Amino acid sequence: MPAIVLVGAQWGDEGKGKVTDMLAEGVDLIVRYQGGSNAGHTVMVDNEEYVLHLIPSGILYDDKLCIIGDDVVLDPKILIEEIDSIKCRGVSLDNLRISCNAHLVMPYHKTLDRFEEELKGKHRLGTTGRGIGPAYVDKMARVGLRMSDLFDREEFEGRLGHTLKYKNLILREIFKHEGFEAADIIDEYLGYAEKLKEYVADTSLLIHNALRDERFVLFEGAQGTLLDVTHGTYPYVTSSHPVAGGACVGAGIGPTKISRVLGITKAYTTRVGEGPFPTELNDEIGEHLRKTGGEFGATTGRPRRCGWLDALLLRYSVRINGMSALAMTKLDVLDELDVIKVCVGYKVGNEVISEFTTDFRKLRECTPIYEDIPGWKTDTRGVKDYRELPKGAKSYIRNIERIIKAPISIISVGPRRAQTVILRKFV
Ligand code: GDP
Ligand code: IMO
Ligand code: MG
Repeated sequence: MPAIVLVGAQWGDEGKGKVTDMLAEGVDLIVRYQGGSNAGHTVMVDNEEYVLHLIPSGILYDDKLCIIGDDVVLDPKILIEEIDSIKCRGVSLDNLRISCNAHLVMPYHKTLDRFEEELKGKHRLGTTGRGIGPAYVDKMARVGLRMSDLFDREEFEGRLGHTLKYKNLILREIFKHEGFEAADIIDEYLGYAEKLKEYVADTSLLIHNALRDERFVLFEGAQGTLLDVTHGTYPYVTSSHPVAGGACVGAGIGPTKISRVLGITKAYTTRVGEGPFPTELNDEIGEHLRKTGGEFGATTGRPRRCGWLDALLLRYSVRINGMSALAMTKLDVLDELDVIKVCVGYKVGNEVISEFTTDFRKLRECTPIYEDIPGWKTDTRGVKDYRELPKGAKSYIRNIERIIKAPISIISVGPRRAQTVILRKFV
């Protein structure tokens, strides 16, 4: 049975939550493979909106196994709040599993995230403040604490004591913060362990067994390709690997197991936080996209920066992820526009660039070259079949497919499950 990776094609918030929830109906397991509570994935069922930070977006079905994988950095406080809040709304968490290898976000990670951003001043990244960067740094420096450590008090106390000495030195000497007491963290985290222990498992084995038994697995990426620490617009990125290749390491499966990759793109572009954004619109059209698209961060509430679709960026994303097809969301947000622009090249000085670059200097300096497409000025929110789409919308989609050299198989025209047009069956 297929294993499909669903990946953000831009700078995050492409609608991964909506598409995961929609595809989840036809699959058996949904796996989050990287990132942490910096993610905010919105799922709308009837008139109920759920914003998920750590729990996979398949949780609203009661017969799907939902896995938080090995490369996720997990803030147990936020996870428990998320579990409690969705349990209160009648959702069963019986099918949630958490990898014993997932690293823990500790209180000092969140404090350091804030202070490091302040210290960077005008070079700040605009992080979500959820301690993600510092948690991945500790993982790589081999001083992180993992989910499994919570069940070995002696080991947890010993390793925390060692790490905390060093963290407190930085906090006190550089940032003039009072630092943290080991005893307080131990009490707090062992309390979390009690609440989470029923969910902890060897999740890579669960996924392996499911694939062996011909069950269907969907890997749900967080963030987006351009936020990948290696392939994104470094240094304005997150600290993990949202790209499709990240699913292998992040969930503990081999590349031969992955059968297809579905990229999720908005019909335009958004970005939260700092960093270059060639097609950004600081005008009334940008404001129109923000207002019509409800472009405010699902995790931090920050207004998202909005701009035209960047087809160069998208073609790069198709390449880096080996995308088999794409889902285009929020087409409806363009419904009222007279003219829609698509970026097909960049001009840097006298040079015309036709392939995307992650060099932030070039991205910052460049002037986008646009193709104009006439708007369709028709409400698409009720469209269920491709044939019902206005001619202009079809032409927009076909043009983008031509430039990015990949098929758009799903079109989303609203936040609800039913507001989806399937061109080619993906699951
Ligand atoms: P994610 O992080 O990729 O899961 O995306 P977010 O949930 O952060 O942001 C996407 C937002 O767009 C959410 O508020 C969704 O409910 C909403 N959304 C998703 N698809 C569509 C669509 O096709 N049209 C409109 N208008 N809204 C959508
Ligand atoms: P989802 O999964 C959009 C951005 C932050 C910042 C940069 C680094 O909902 O698409 P971090 O806190 O990760 O160290 O911040 O990454 N960022 C996101 N932007 N959607 C997200 O997740 C994001 N997660 C992180 O705004 O620019
Ligand atoms: Mg989001």
